[in-house]
Amino acid sequence: MKPKALSKPVLLCFEDEQANGARIAAAGHLNLAKIERHRFPDGEIKLRLPDTLPEHVVILRTLNDPNEKLIELLLAAQTARQLGAKHLTLVAPYLAYMRQDIAFHPGEAISQRIVGRFLADLFNAVITVDPHLHRVATLRDAVPVASAIVLSGAPLLSDLIAARRQQPLLVGPDEESAQWVALAASRHGFAHAVCHKIRHGDRAVEVALPEQAVAGRQVVLLDDVVSTGHTVAQAARLLLAAGAASVDVAVTHALFCGDALQLILDAGVGEVWSTDCIEHSSNAVSMATTIAEALESIHAA
Ligand code: R5P
Repeated sequence: MKPKALSKPVLLCFEDEQANGARIAAAGHLNLAKIERHRFPDGEIKLRLPDTLPEHVVILRTLNDPNEKLIELLLAAQTARQLGAKHLTLVAPYLAYMRQDIAFHPGEAISQRIVGRFLADLFNAVITVDPHLHRVATLRDAVPVASAIVLSGAPLLSDLIAARRQQPLLVGPDEESAQWVALAASRHGFAHAVCHKIRHGDRAVEVALPEQAVAGRQVVLLDDVVSTGHTVAQAARLLLAAGAASVDVAVTHALFCGDALQLILDAGVGEVWSTDCIEHSSNAVSMATTIAEALESIHAA
């Protein structure tokens, strides 16, 4: 795959994200090209980009399992500039390291700030979806790049829920989900509420249900990310024990570490729907058109 015309922006993607790359390129009428990747026996990687690049280059890399991908971005972005790129955009549908936004204990790295600065030094623009910004107001506070664009999966998940469930009650499993729950609920006038959560460890959470009556309701738990699954599994158990008619899960970022999906299903969850920000069997809505529109706004500026 080589860019057809050097004046048209090109979207570069890695082999494991070609399907999403093709969807975004088709929606945005972009040229699509592949970054080839070789892993040496010692674990180092070598990348190869198309040997000539246009002025506007977009790199797609969703940052689940982020550690090696951050090195790939360092290599790819600097090589793209050497090959002619003047304006580089990162499309990271899932942006990693956003949750560690303060030093919870003395000596802890504030990963959000460090990773944010790293990306800002490489790219002119960053586009992401529902970043976990809790104690900072804007994406630019976390990733100090000239153009920082935040999209949301909540509207499309809301449309899907409206098509699949009758008068659903949207419930956020913790206070931090309130922003996405409110956005999704307002689109179709759904009733909504959020739980209270106390986290005791990576896999230990305590959830308290909201006061809203749930008996007989079709409840959809909506959150930005499911990681170990313990948050939504615990909320689902409580909702079903309180008489909810059904509990489904809608999530932007399907991290689903280890046995997370099974844990959620074992808790009584009926269906799990996610966006394609991270490729997963639960993907039910695509962010490609929304991302392509954001790219168009950058390239038109
Ligand atoms: C944190 O507040 C996030 O919004 C999620 O609720 C959390 O990351 C989910 O983690 P887990 O699936 O491991 O409980």
